[in-house]
Amino acid sequence: MKIFIDTADLDEIREACSWGIVDGATTNPSLIKRAVDKRGGNVTMEKYIREILETVPGPVSLEVIATDAEGMVEQARLLHRKFSPYGEVVVKIPVNPSLDESGTRDFDGLKAIQTLKNEGIPTNATLIMTPEQALLAAKAGASYASPFAGRIDDYIRKRMGLRLGVDFQKGDYFDYGLVNALVRARLKDVMESKTGPLSELYSERDVREVLAKAQDNGICSGVDLVARIVRIYRNYGYKTQVIAASIRNARQVREVAEVGVDIATLPFNVIREMIRHPKTLEGMRRFTEDIVPSYRRLFK
Ligand code: E4P
Repeated sequence: MKIFIDTADLDEIREACSWGIVDGATTNPSLIKRAVDKRGGNVTMEKYIREILETVPGPVSLEVIATDAEGMVEQARLLHRKFSPYGEVVVKIPVNPSLDESGTRDFDGLKAIQTLKNEGIPTNATLIMTPEQALLAAKAGASYASPFAGRIDDYIRKRMGLRLGVDFQKGDYFDYGLVNALVRARLKDVMESKTGPLSELYSERDVREVLAKAQDNGICSGVDLVARIVRIYRNYGYKTQVIAASIRNARQVREVAEVGVDIATLPFNVIREMIRHPKTLEGMRRFTEDIVPSYRRLFK
């Protein structure tokens, strides 16, 4: 599995690249904002992005800001032309760039992806929240597809009635195994109070309610979303690579690796979390205490 760093913060990018584990990077307008804010707004954007590209030893995703197909294609060409001399530019295109419910822009992302593919400009279809969107992105010719695992976990927890920042924090692991056990137990309780043929139970409101709140149209968690997309792409041999995005903790990284995702794009703090364990720390302290002088002298 490749690891991309999910940040636009050059200090973080430089440090993570020095660890020898970074294969690429992903940015988005919010990550760019965070990096600019950290420097007090003091950023010459063109120079800054150039430095990111020169630092990262692989593809760097840069996102367009237009929301119509023509505008996205123009911006993608500009990003590709301007920054390709400094590194491997991948253009991030929202899978559906609509900003309202009218639906008029629903397919502009796919149109842009198709045009860019024909021009040889690699794309990363972003803001993917369903396997259906991922399937369409692959068909349109996206080089990468980015399902947002953490945001789907947030969404399901919200449907269950949990509040971000109150009942759970952004980095908390979403334990779907536990949710599933709770759903089964609750379902058993509900079922015990019901009688009637299967057809009636199937459409029973209480039964449906127990199931519906702990998933998003059959998607049980962010990792489940990633796993299903990986499976669909492998079923049909799509070349589009899956980037597990919106990753919030180390355990999620392990789980997307277990389902065989091509790439995980990770915030700096998640990479740091991956290397730590209290027993490793304890072991290091013990080994250091136990060094006998004759062994230490070997290294003098
Ligand atoms: C990367 O491609 C995404 O833009 C990023 O992972 C989103 O992460 P977030 O949901 O934590 O903002």
